Amino acid sequence: MILSYEKEFSKNASSYNEYNIIQKEVARNVVSLVENAPKRILDLGCGSGEIYKLINWNIEEFTAVDISYEMCKLHPKNPNISVINENYEDDNLFERLKQENFDIVLSSSSLQWCSNLDKMAKKISKLSNNCVLSLFCDGTFKTIYQTSKLKSFLPNYKEVIKIFEKYFEMECDIRRYKLYFEDNISKFRYIKKSGVSGGKRRLNYKETKELIKSYPLDYLEFEVLLLRAKSLEPRA
Ligand SMILES: C[S@@+](CC[C@H](N)C(=O)[O-])C[C@H]1O[C@@H](n2cnc3c(N)ncnc32)[C@H](O)[C@@H]1O
Repeated sequence: MILSYEKEFSKNASSYNEYNIIQKEVARNVVSLVENAPKRILDLGCGSGEIYKLINWNIEEFTAVDISYEMCKLHPKNPNISVINENYEDDNLFERLKQENFDIVLSSSSLQWCSNLDKMAKKISKLSNNCVLSLFCDGTFKTIYQTSKLKSFLPNYKEVIKIFEKYFEMECDIRRYKLYFEDNISKFRYIKKSGVSGGKRRLNYKETKELIKSYPLDYLEFEVLLLRAKSLEPRA
């Protein structure tokens, strides 16, 4: 069953410098789906530690992976946290992580950029019997893509579900968010700074200016797929 849910936010002056309102909400959703207080956790694409900061039960080990050195530097540190500054798609890293015994794999707002999502889904199913994941999907910035006639580089949620169904039994939930702004310039600043666009700049200055003028909505759209899944071939 796929649940669908909508929520609206307003980007007011007090949160003006906060460019990850939606990612924070999504990370809260991921952690809220975790059951049975797992003790050994792997977080793929940990960023500055949003997931770790939300964990309010006792854990034994938290392994956090991020390709960005800057993000790894920002992640909380303590003796039961290992921060690994590597690409989670790397096969050697996978072989090392497979030696560990994770109770759960978590990943929030990151896997949408995988170069090979099928291969990554299969790897995740071998790293733990349980996972909770969130991925931004191509309904994100939908009207921008329609207005500019560009194709989204984000995956379609139905395709993502099809991939994960090969390796997992799962519950899926589509979350759609609207983030309201007072003007168009702030919307585009948010897109640039939030990192959701993956840093891919596809429009030149003139095109961006035109798009800012013609963008018809007073909000930005976000679409996130949440998956709570159990591996079809559990590890012993
Ligand atoms: C939008 S941030 C989300 C961070 C955090 N999970 C959160 O919920 O706030 C996505 C993170 O994924 C990391 N990332 C993207 N591709 C990666 C890869 N192939 N291997 C490791 N980290 C990756 C980025 O460096 C970034 O820190």
